[in-house]
Amino acid sequence: MKITIIGAGNVGATAAQIIVDKNLANEVFIYDVIEGIPQGKALDIYQSSAIQNSDTRIYGANNMEPSSNSDIIVMTAGMARKPGMSRDDLLNINADIIRKVTEEAVKYSPNSILLVVTNPLDVMTYVAFINSHFPRNRVIGMSGVLDTARLKAFICGELYVSIGNIHAIVLGGHGDTMVPLTRFATVAGVPVTDLLPQHRIDAIIERTRNGGAEIVKHLKTGSAYYAPAAAVVQMIDTIVKNRHRIMSCCVYLTGEYGHNHVCLGVPIKLGRQGMEEIVQIKLNDEEKAAFDKSADAVREQMAALKL
Ligand code: NAI
Ligand code: 2OP
Repeated sequence: MKITIIGAGNVGATAAQIIVDKNLANEVFIYDVIEGIPQGKALDIYQSSAIQNSDTRIYGANNMEPSSNSDIIVMTAGMARKPGMSRDDLLNINADIIRKVTEEAVKYSPNSILLVVTNPLDVMTYVAFINSHFPRNRVIGMSGVLDTARLKAFICGELYVSIGNIHAIVLGGHGDTMVPLTRFATVAGVPVTDLLPQHRIDAIIERTRNGGAEIVKHLKTGSAYYAPAAAVVQMIDTIVKNRHRIMSCCVYLTGEYGHNHVCLGVPIKLGRQGMEEIVQIKLNDEEKAAFDKSADAVREQMAALKL
């Protein structure tokens, strides 16, 4: 098992460290355009493997050649929004980066599974999918796992129960229009709607939708990376161990949930081959309307793409 991480920034390096700590791969390769950064961070993490008792070998470089024959490639490369830069400017800058790194990834690892993290997530997953020419089961975006983790954490904080008792799922695009499906959220099998009043559930939904922004507000510079990295590694663990776990991931839709030619967060079964199937949940009218609204928001971003 060989994993390449593109982008040795906060999310990429943290994910690499967790993979090594968990001994999830034989090799981890980190690539970044900044000279010395992937090499230095990889060496630092490698030295920690002596303490963690991990046999995962990790190394870094400023070219993609060492990524050859990776099984999984995680894409976290991107730019942060700078003063004077519009959302559309950033979208096209990151789309350009994802396009280029996808071409390199595919050239060196034609059988890999691509896991996209760079924002705006749904559009970047689409860019990676189109440019990879891979089947859709091998191009998967990470956002639903993170958004679901936030929803679970907030439910947990409200009820003071073990986090492992909580099951929940968030669908749709990674942004303000995401769709936390609280109707399906349970605590040890008991519906959350039986345990909390509606106004508390509404507050949890709102906090989940603003989960990323709340952290940015605290940090001032940069965005969340511990939970995002943990989310990526949960997807990697699911693939590596062929767990067939059902999780919310961003994939290219061909009619599922009433949408076509767009990448959106839906429940999928994930395993060693990547996405094994899209799980169709019967949404009620309100949930379907929220999902459609989220799809419209992603399509609006896609319209700004200079392909
Ligand atoms: P960061 O700024 O710490 O790291 C980004 C890294 O990408 C930098 O080291 C930069 O040098 C590198 N990079 C830029 N262009 C590159 C290229 N062409 N090839 C290789 N590397 C390149 O950012 P952070 O916090 O690690 O976030 C990374 C991305 O993930 C951002 O777009 C962020 O918005 C997104 N994100 C998405 C989440 C999700 O739920 N999907 C959650 C958290 C972050
Ligand atoms: C988040 O939700 C920045 O997308 C990232 O924290």
